[in-house]
Amino acid sequence: MEKMFLLKTEIHQFTSVREFFESQKLTKSDLIITNRFMAEGKLKGYIKNASVIFQEEYGNGEPTDQMVMAIKKDMPKDVLRIFAIGGGTVIDIAKFLVLESEGSIDEMIMKEKEYHKTRELIVIPTTCGTGSEVTNVAIAELMSRKTKKGLADDALYPDKAVLIPELVESLPYKFFATSSIDALVHAVESYLSPKASEYSKMFSCKAISMILKGYQVVVQKGKDQWNQLADQFLMASNFAGIAFGNAGCAAVHAMSYPLGGTYHIPHGEANQLMFEAVLRMYEKKDPHGHLEDLKEVVANELCVEKEKSLEALYELMDQILVRKSLCTYGIKKEELSVFAESVLEGQQRLLNNNYVELSYDDMMQIYHSVFDK
Ligand SMILES: NC(=O)c1ccc[n+]([C@@H]2O[C@H](COP(=O)([O-])OP(=O)(O)OC[C@H]3O[C@@H](n4cnc5c(N)ncnc54)[C@H](O)[C@@H]3O)[C@@H](O)[C@H]2O)c1
Ligand SMILES: [Fe+2]
Repeated sequence: MEKMFLLKTEIHQFTSVREFFESQKLTKSDLIITNRFMAEGKLKGYIKNASVIFQEEYGNGEPTDQMVMAIKKDMPKDVLRIFAIGGGTVIDIAKFLVLESEGSIDEMIMKEKEYHKTRELIVIPTTCGTGSEVTNVAIAELMSRKTKKGLADDALYPDKAVLIPELVESLPYKFFATSSIDALVHAVESYLSPKASEYSKMFSCKAISMILKGYQVVVQKGKDQWNQLADQFLMASNFAGIAFGNAGCAAVHAMSYPLGGTYHIPHGEANQLMFEAVLRMYEKKDPHGHLEDLKEVVANELCVEKEKSLEALYELMDQILVRKSLCTYGIKKEELSVFAESVLEGQQRLLNNNYVELSYDDMMQIYHSVFDK
């Protein structure tokens, strides 16, 4: 019997930060993981009774296993609830911190050491991309392996996800762009996944539709207008999280991880670098499968002919975030085979969700097609 759908996280929405904190009684056994600009900005005055850790004091950029280990060492021992208030970086760090284990993060992700959940996790996203507030996945760069890898386990479902659009409005355009593209990729990859069900597809489709509607407004009205739609993008990213939490992400994510792990390209940006090339390969290998349905969803939203819909989608995404070729990041041609090997070896969890199977040669072709385009 196939499991069709699971959502373990309670979802709440608050119209303001004040309203949310008035509903909570914080004590020192509550740990808040966030960034200093949040604590001194929108959270000011509300979190003084809790223990607070600033993520950026442990390193810049997206989570590494060493960053998480250092925070684990410093966190108070008697914490009962963890509040993650931030983007995917803060959230994924917090997800690891609810687990107790004798092993390192690397050993936990490689499933070499056991772990168990010991704390409650409440997640408040401040970007509009990862959907991590409703998934059972936490991702970190494994520094010794030069790639990113996710730990997927039901113990990682946050107990509560709290959506407060006010917190997302301050996101600079660049991070709006990278995070919302990540959400769009979650929605598309989960829609095309062989694990997709009618339930997950409903969430994928709604997310695609909301994000594309929003993107068209941003292109029309100007980049500085995106935050007028912060509540829509936040909800769309949540829907996309519910969709991929059930149906999974696939090759776009898998092939972007070496770029994130080796060259520290932000996650959403790295996804966009791979997105068109992976979909083109899918189309070449199986043009008449479920991809046809995706074209229809996109065509309806962008008011274009079905056969031109994916082209229109790539173009719209490029208007939101300018795409560069891999070589402009300093990536060398001879590294592409190392990337493809590392994807085949380390990302089977994601590759299992591919629309069609991709061989090593297919992946090399994909990487080459975006190397110096
Ligand atoms: N666990 C999952 O299910 C899942 C899914 C997708 C992505 N991820 C992970 O999430 C990470 C990326 O997360 P992200 O795209 O949310 O970016 P991020 O958390 O790295 O944040 C990007 C930047 O925006 C800043 N920022 C965040 N919120 C802000 C706000 N409201 N105002 C001003 N600045 C703000 C951050 O401090 C940071 O500098 C990656 O590590 C990726 O692998 C996890
Ligand atoms: Fe993602």
